[in-house]
Order: sequence, then C-alpha cells, then structure tokens
Amino acid sequence: MSTYILGIESSCDDTSAAVIRDHFLLSNIIASQNVHIKYGGVVPELASRAHQQNIIPVVDTALKEAGITASDLDGIAFTRGPGLMGSLLVGTSFAKGLSLATGCKLIEVNHLQAHILANFLREPGKEKQIPEFPFLCLLVSGGHTQLVQVRDYLDMDIIGSTLDDAAGEALDKCAKVMGLPYPGGPVIDRTAREGNPDAFSFSKPRISGLDYSFSGLKTSFLYFLRDQLQGDPGFISKYLPDLCASLQKAVVDILTEKLLKAAKETGIQEIALAGGVSANSALREAVTGLGAKHGWKVHLPEFRFTTDNAAMIAITGYHKYLRGDFATQDITPLARMPF
Ligand code: KG4
Ligand code: ZN
Repeated sequence: MSTYILGIESSCDDTSAAVIRDHFLLSNIIASQNVHIKYGGVVPELASRAHQQNIIPVVDTALKEAGITASDLDGIAFTRGPGLMGSLLVGTSFAKGLSLATGCKLIEVNHLQAHILANFLREPGKEKQIPEFPFLCLLVSGGHTQLVQVRDYLDMDIIGSTLDDAAGEALDKCAKVMGLPYPGGPVIDRTAREGNPDAFSFSKPRISGLDYSFSGLKTSFLYFLRDQLQGDPGFISKYLPDLCASLQKAVVDILTEKLLKAAKETGIQEIALAGGVSANSALREAVTGLGAKHGWKVHLPEFRFTTDNAAMIAITGYHKYLRGDFATQDITPLARMPF
C-alpha cells in the first residue's frame, strides 16, 4: 500500500506545500513573497503575514495537483525549525490543525536535514541517481554553511560549520552593497557569467579544521569597493561582471577547499550539495571538476530543490513516517534547532 505525505515549509519567505507517494514527488507548490524585495531582505512580520495568506491556497493546490484529498493523507510533515519564529508558527499551526481534522500522523522536520534529503527526491517515470551512504554533503544556504557526514537518512553529523556569516548571506550582503536586488546570490551568478573571475582578489580566511568564515571576505569586499569608489564613482557599474565573478570565485574557493579537506580526512568519495547556494553554477562546476579529478561520485540536486521547498520536507517526513517517529499536538516551533 502506498504512503501519502503532505510536506509544509514556511521557515523563511517561501510558503510551500508538496505531496509525495512513497518517495515519488507528485506535487510541489511554492509561493514566493515579493513583498520583501523593496526592503532588500526578509522582513519577519511581513513574512508571517504573507504565510497566513498563502498557506491555504498553496496546500489546496498541492493536494489537487497530486490528485488526492486531505483524507488520503497518511502523514503531515512540517518544518519545525530552524527559521523565523513567526513564519514557522504559521506552518506548524496549520499542520497541527490539519492533522487533528484528518486524524493522520503529525511529523516534525528539521529544515537543514530536509535540504540534504532533497537529493533523494524522485519523480514517477524519471531515472535519478541517488547518493549512497555514507556521503558528505556541503549544505550552503542563506542561513547556513555546513559540512555534514551523512550515515543514513536521519543519522548525520555536522563536521564543519561557519563561525560567522553563511555563504549565501555573504553573497546577499555584497550584492546589496553593489546595489543589486535581493536575494543577490542568483543575480551575482548570472552577472558573473560575463565577468573575469581573476580580475580582483579578496582576503581568504585562515580557519583551521573544517570550519568556515565569510565575514572577512565580506569586509574585504566592502573596503575594496569603498576605496575604488573614492577614485571613481562609476567603478561598480563599470566593473560589475568582474566584481561578481571575482567575489563568486572567492566564495567557491573557500567552500571547495574545506570540502576537499573533509573528503581526504574521512575517505568518503560520495559527495552531495544542498541548499540555496548549491544552485550556483560556479560552485556546481567546481565540485563536478573536483569529482572528476579525485574520483568522487558527485550528486547535484535539481535546481528547483536547492532553494526552500516543501518537497524536501515531505521526503524527510516520509523517512520519519517509516520509522514511526511522530510528533504530538503540544509541539512548538524552534527558531534554532540542532540536527
Ligand atoms: O536554502 P535557501 O532557499 O534558504 C535558506 O534556508 O537560507 O537559500 C537562499 C540563499 C540566498 O542567500 C540566495 O542568495 C542563495 O541561496 N542563492 C544563490 C543562488 N540561488 C540562490 N546563491 C548563489 N547562486 C545562486 N544561483
Ligand atoms: Zn533553506
């Protein structure tokens, strides 16, 4: 008999609902919130209000597109954290209510674990190579930058982490300084295609072990621009593609250096990417190149599963469902949530 899981994601500024039948994705609806663009970043109060407006139509559409009704569901998986408290509350409350109304199981999901398990999403009739355990996952998003050793679906350890900014956060902040719209990561990616990655160089962190740091790069970029603008107020517009390409190269170099170190130290050659920044074309190219050089098997999630989505929440919920790992009605969201 098939298992139907509804996934609900509302940790930041995307309201999303998805339905899976076993590990096959049937629908994945995402309502992005444009209300934040003019503020250059996510405004938590506006995000939670928009989630409230979006959640019912988004869930309704996901069920319809999957060709089922709420009464067919076996489980409802929701993002418990980490994320913005007001945003998490909307998804959590909705999931609890629907679970009560339908009598199906309630399943809490860690958003970061879900980004990693996005690598296991499959669609009916489509071939997909999935990672084999154990594998290393470079999880890079707007809020997190981590190296994770994954032993099984729900058994994973963080072996390296950023000590300050996340990679996506650094890209977004540097983009803002250059006057680019939010979120800056994808704009930098597109603009960098026309630029020279070796045009400028910025300071690299010297952090021992497998940890990361991006605040030094951000400051170095900021000071470089400030100095150049003093001599030439048109510097940014004149060199925008080169600035984007050079900044992106610096971020990719920092990310891949520690990934290489982690692969050497653990002896693991099965490598996956996850999180919003894993959509970055230069990062994907660099990791694919390292894979060819070092004999790794590289897994890149589909673009639409890199940024926040409920499909990844549903697949994680499915594995928790199989293990009988259920939540109760007294559960509350967590802004910070360890694995
Ligand atoms: O995973 P995600 O959707 O949300 C968090 O959980 O943080 O990641 C969002 C981050 C943003 O910082 C955004 O700029 C970045 O992912 N991002 C990219 C690209 N697409 C999204 N960064 C670089 N290149 C991209 N193509
Ligand atoms: Zn995310």
